[in-house]
Amino acid sequence: MDRDSAKQAAAEAAVQLVSDGMCVGLGSGSTTAYALEFLGRRIQAEALNVRGVPTSFATERRARAHGIPLASLDDDPALDLALDGADEVDSDFRLIKGGGGAHAREKVVAHQADRFVVLVDPTKEVHRLGAGFPVPVEVLPMAATPVMNTLEAVGATPTLRTAEAKDGPVVTDQGLWIIDAQFPDGIDAPAELSRRLCNRPGVLDHGLFLEMATDILVGHPDGSVDHHSAS
Ligand code: A5P
Repeated sequence: MDRDSAKQAAAEAAVQLVSDGMCVGLGSGSTTAYALEFLGRRIQAEALNVRGVPTSFATERRARAHGIPLASLDDDPALDLALDGADEVDSDFRLIKGGGGAHAREKVVAHQADRFVVLVDPTKEVHRLGAGFPVPVEVLPMAATPVMNTLEAVGATPTLRTAEAKDGPVVTDQGLWIIDAQFPDGIDAPAELSRRLCNRPGVLDHGLFLEMATDILVGHPDGSVDHHSAS
């Protein structure tokens, strides 16, 4: 499958949801990168007054490069819309995010938005959450081993995410580490797992996004887009 064309289709459709005067949460990852490109073009071509709140250093830099004026939650705590990708989406609008390690900021920004629009290609749609993609858990470095023990106790195989162009762990935009928790048979009770992880000292946040997405746009390589809206 031509996933890039599918991602572009979803991104282009998502950017059509942006109107003049909006403050928009800007997610992270390769699908959102296309949305930033399209949004930058719309802002220039239509002289739109739109501001974006970025969810990572990478997105901040990309947004600047595309001429998108930036804001923060200090300036604009109430966002009209947040646009972001996902690693898995199920039919109940539940997501796994954090393949790019930005899930903690992404969750804050999505929570502040009236509408959280998720852009994916069809490979991200799953029947059972967690059967394919691990749940990223961002932790204080000194808590990494105890949190890995907790993850093993709930049936996961935890792995400390290591950097590719650096020796050692991936260090997030917050200066923390990421443990990827693989659930061999998927996740039985995502809400219960989410609660347990949120209550675990040393965990900043995890990549389960439950009851947050309002719209899921599934792009296809032929340019068509399926738009699912939560009721
Ligand atoms: C970033 O941390 C993630 O949550 C991304 O949104 C997610 O991994 C999807 O990324 P792609 O659009 O690159 O697949």
